[in-house]
Amino acid sequence: MCVSAPRIGILVGTRGRGSNMRALAQACASGRLAAEVGLVVGPRADAPALEVARAMGLPVRVHDFTAEDAGPRLAEALSERRCRLLCLAGFLRLLPTEVLDAFPGRVLNIHPALLPKFGGKGMYGRHVHEAVLAAGETESGCSIHRVTPVYDEGEVVLQRRCPVLPGDTPDTLAGRVLALEHQAYAEAVAKVLRELDGD
Ligand code: GRF
Repeated sequence: MCVSAPRIGILVGTRGRGSNMRALAQACASGRLAAEVGLVVGPRADAPALEVARAMGLPVRVHDFTAEDAGPRLAEALSERRCRLLCLAGFLRLLPTEVLDAFPGRVLNIHPALLPKFGGKGMYGRHVHEAVLAAGETESGCSIHRVTPVYDEGEVVLQRRCPVLPGDTPDTLAGRVLALEHQAYAEAVAKVLRELDGD
């Protein structure tokens, strides 16, 4: 019997580099993550992360999030591609509720800090690392959490930690956290897929 790998969808943002999307796709391709990328979705054709996805030969969809039926259409597109899980990677808006309803507990996001600290509206990218440094934290890291209708509030599935070093700038800290993100996201996806399989 041939059992096909579970598929994941990945939702990227307008400006993100797509490095987490690439890390997930590479984990699938190498077998480190027993899954395959069913669809990479982004809000604009020229989003850098979609360029990366196209170059990797991944199936790509440009989705208009301003359309009235954006939610149901995205849920439908992911289901058509038989995606079991949706992974947000640099997507900064709130997800339409129809997608959350269609994928209950099966939408994940990665955040570059140790939630519940340093999350919420406006806490993205450099702002997060600036806030961590301003608070005098001695450690930071990344969190993969389930997505709810509230920014950064869902259950944390997995966290990885790293030190904040003397002399760190937002950029040096961001780089250390990003290296963790690239490992951690695939681990979190594997964990959730195992749960879905009833392990
Ligand atoms: C990452 O830092 C991630 O934690 C956050 O957005 C950033 C996306 O970076 N959600 P990239 O586009 O994956 O390189």
